[in-house]
Amino acid sequence: MTARTPQIDTKLPAVGTTIFTVMSALAAETGAVNLGQGFPDFGCDPQLLAAVTEAMAAGNNQYPPMPGIAPLRDAIAAKVSTLYGHAYRAADEITITAGATQAIITAILAVVRPGDEVIVLEPCYDSYVPNIDLAGGVVVRVPLTPGTFRPDFDKIAAALTPRTRAIIVNSPHNPSATVWTAAEMRRLEELLDPTDVLVISDEVYEHMVYDGARHESAARYPGLAARSFIVSSFGKTYHVTGWKVGYVAAPAPLTAEFRKVHQFNVFTVNTPMQHALAHFMESPAPYMELSAFYQRKRDLFAEGLRKTRLKLLRSEGTYFQCVDISAVSDLGEADFCLWLTREIGVAAIPLSAFYGGGFDQRVVRFCFAKKDETLQLALDRLARL
Ligand SMILES: Cc1ncc(COP(=O)(O)O)c(C=O)c1O
Repeated sequence: MTARTPQIDTKLPAVGTTIFTVMSALAAETGAVNLGQGFPDFGCDPQLLAAVTEAMAAGNNQYPPMPGIAPLRDAIAAKVSTLYGHAYRAADEITITAGATQAIITAILAVVRPGDEVIVLEPCYDSYVPNIDLAGGVVVRVPLTPGTFRPDFDKIAAALTPRTRAIIVNSPHNPSATVWTAAEMRRLEELLDPTDVLVISDEVYEHMVYDGARHESAARYPGLAARSFIVSSFGKTYHVTGWKVGYVAAPAPLTAEFRKVHQFNVFTVNTPMQHALAHFMESPAPYMELSAFYQRKRDLFAEGLRKTRLKLLRSEGTYFQCVDISAVSDLGEADFCLWLTREIGVAAIPLSAFYGGGFDQRVVRFCFAKKDETLQLALDRLARL
């Protein structure tokens, strides 16, 4: 008898070690300031931590209800109604998930059948494409306009076919830091109106929108809300990316299908965290003040970058700042990021990592969700450019 592991054909041949892992490992190895991966290097509100401890001490440590605890779903319904004017029923239209990543794959598995087409707007967050592949769907890549990263509705219209099941949109947008306008949301609403296409609206950066603009949630647009899974994440909003708690809001018939997959996928999500988040959501201040908090960091970082030859792209939302590297280096994006990490001591992410074909437009992404001193240290090093 031999101990032999049977060979398997991979379901995801294109998936390997991601650039995020490579850059984070290299940053750690070289002592570079890690502005690559998107997570804060500062803590969350101590009151939120205390609320978790209290929830545990109060005995909230067993399975919660499958869709999430009622107080948290109620708090989310109230927030969405107040901010975006759409009243979701907490009972059958809001579900707590293990972060936005699980919400997105669950929505895709719930509605995409083999051969169904799903439109993604590139560059896009790296989980979308493997998620569609796992569902047996066909990925239809439509580029955002290079340079501005605005949606090109002629291209989106041309990509729609009778087999299109869904489109994934993401505003505020990772990696470009653009924010869709009301006019763009209305264009999408009109375009989809005669179709049965569903929308997965990834709104994890909903509370990081700058310069007085507002977040255009799909929930604000009745034609979109009626066909959308709206996804958000407490990780981004409350500086707790490691907690992996998020939610999805969707009309009851979509939520019913979503929950069928959810209950056999994760079933339930961390109980004490849900209690703490429900308690913490009683005050809107933390999420209402988040844009101002990050706009100040964006401006601090941008001011330093303007002293270099890097050309700043507009950061309208998210905690990312993209820069054009062409005046600084002849290297491609990925090689530039390796060089920047090793030689300058700052890690960034190439935008080509967010395209299936590795499209290289000489733009890299920095994350400014960092302590002021971390940003200052990075700027001191980047001043050589
Ligand atoms: C656009 C986008 N969607 C989803 C996620 C994942 O969110 P979560 O950590 O809640 O799974 C991220 C995290 O970086 C993101 O940038």
